[in-house]
Amino acid sequence: MDYFLNTLPKAELHLHLEGSLEPELMFRLAERNSIELPYDSVEQLTAAYDFNNLQEFLDLYYQGAAVLLTEQDFYDLTWAYIERCRTQHVIHIEPFFDPQTHTDRGIPFITVISGISRALKNAETEYGISSGLIMCFLRHLSEEAAFEALQQAEPYLDNIIGIGLDSSELGHPPAKFARVFAKARGMGLLAVAHAGEEGPAQNIIDSLELLHVDRIDHGVRAIDDPELIKRLVTEKIALTVCPLSNTRLKVFADMSQHNILEMLEQGVKVTVNSDDPAYFGGYLTENFIALEKGLGMSKEQAVLLARNSFEYSFAKSERKAEMLLELNCY
Ligand code: ADE
Ligand code: ZN
Repeated sequence: MDYFLNTLPKAELHLHLEGSLEPELMFRLAERNSIELPYDSVEQLTAAYDFNNLQEFLDLYYQGAAVLLTEQDFYDLTWAYIERCRTQHVIHIEPFFDPQTHTDRGIPFITVISGISRALKNAETEYGISSGLIMCFLRHLSEEAAFEALQQAEPYLDNIIGIGLDSSELGHPPAKFARVFAKARGMGLLAVAHAGEEGPAQNIIDSLELLHVDRIDHGVRAIDDPELIKRLVTEKIALTVCPLSNTRLKVFADMSQHNILEMLEQGVKVTVNSDDPAYFGGYLTENFIALEKGLGMSKEQAVLLARNSFEYSFAKSERKAEMLLELNCY
């Protein structure tokens, strides 16, 4: 089954590039950029990856991203993730990046987007991995700061397919970003938002009603609202679910309690994703394996989850058709 899950063609629709920064690369970049890390070794760093909630993780995640300074750093980060995708038969990716995490440290927007975009272009030409880059606003920062990030992105709209909303969900509901999402959508960008990860089902409804998102990231708390579940099914609104993230951040106490397959069986368009694999113990294949081990996911369910990842991606229709065709022999 592990071999089957690894070779199964898949798309990843919820992956923070900063969350794919492996400890070894973090140490290498810290040395290259003469940055002092508050840890003596990889072992000491990973011992700190023991989170009780989203905020405890975010504190370390933002600290880790501080080793990223140059265009080459962003290239190396993105390329390392692409190499994982190649070995795990991930043939289409829609990664997130958090520009404000970097511009607030004085790194120019162009440095960030150039390194990431160069790696994504190489992924297409060298490995045939297609992609669409999504820029996230940090919801713990102000609306004004989000408008500023959007303005900085304007010269690079050819490199970005959409906007997202991430960081601390509790205390930062979607309403604050309604105007900046409207502006971005008016610029032709697609939209997603983290909602119903730690926060209530109402945040999912508000992301749909106020932000007009095309997909919901996480969305596992939809289960608390049967009317919302019905709406997600009839309107075919996809959820990008992240199983290992949810157990590592204690959204579910154990994988056996995860609701992804329950929602799948109810007809919700759920997909499997890795979120921040360097921090949560696994990339896409490991997330599929965790569902098989923890929830008894069948091969048929795995294929349906992979099908959803292509169907609800933002890829062009010809590319979607080509990817779906690859599943025919599974
Ligand atoms: N940023 C990176 N990972 C995140 C998550 N799981 N939730 C919210 N913001 C994030
Ligand atoms: Zn996320």
